[in-house]
Amino acid sequence: MKKARFTALQLLVHGAGWLPLAWLVFDFLTDNLTANPIQAIEQRSGIHAITFLLFSLACTPLASILDWKELPLRRKALGNYGFLYAAVHVATFFILDYGLNLAAIWRDVATKSFIILGAIAFLLLLPLAATSFRFWMKRLGKNWKRLHRLVYLITPLVVVHFFMAKKGDLLNLSGDIFQPFLYGGLAVALLLLRLPPIKKRLSRV
Ligand code: HEM
Repeated sequence: MKKARFTALQLLVHGAGWLPLAWLVFDFLTDNLTANPIQAIEQRSGIHAITFLLFSLACTPLASILDWKELPLRRKALGNYGFLYAAVHVATFFILDYGLNLAAIWRDVATKSFIILGAIAFLLLLPLAATSFRFWMKRLGKNWKRLHRLVYLITPLVVVHFFMAKKGDLLNLSGDIFQPFLYGGLAVALLLLRLPPIKKRLSRV
């Protein structure tokens, strides 16, 4: 019997990867993006970006827990979808929101410091996305893995960016904090699962 070209997980990952973008474009074309469509695109793309980053971080620990060998093979695609939505998010901010008016952006950055954290996270994501091709994996060898450890820095930056985007002041949290706490908790759990003693225990399960 001929082997299937794509596995079910591969189809699921790519379906889940493109669906939010298709949905966003559909809502945009049908004028279904709230009274503030630019903010809606910014918020939705931001959430999708962090969600895919966490999915990609979850692959290795879940593979150990569930003994599911295919999961780590899908980590790269999930990370790339995270980058895709981060790029939509950033492009929306710079182009749609500010029309590339650097003076206005600079004024806003001075009052919303969370933007700086998002910008650092995005700059750190760039080399990861650029080297996600097989060519670079081969060329960089062990350094590819080292470079991709940047995700351990990017994740906390994005989580704090998320917290602050919602509240503006981390020390003064109030109101709509459920989502940032949920994502923050998941990020901490996924990063803890990578600590060598915990990782060792998991691989014995
Ligand atoms: C140059 C880089 C970035 C800029 C300028 C930026 C800008 C913004 C702005 C202005 C908001 C507030 C949107 C609003 O509620 O009005 C926001 C929220 C957010 N951003 Fe970013 N961001 C950047 C990078 C990132 C990255 C790299 C990620 C994820 C990988 C991210 C994830 C989020 C999330 C999850 C939110 C909260 C969305 C919500 O309110 O539901 N951002 N960002």
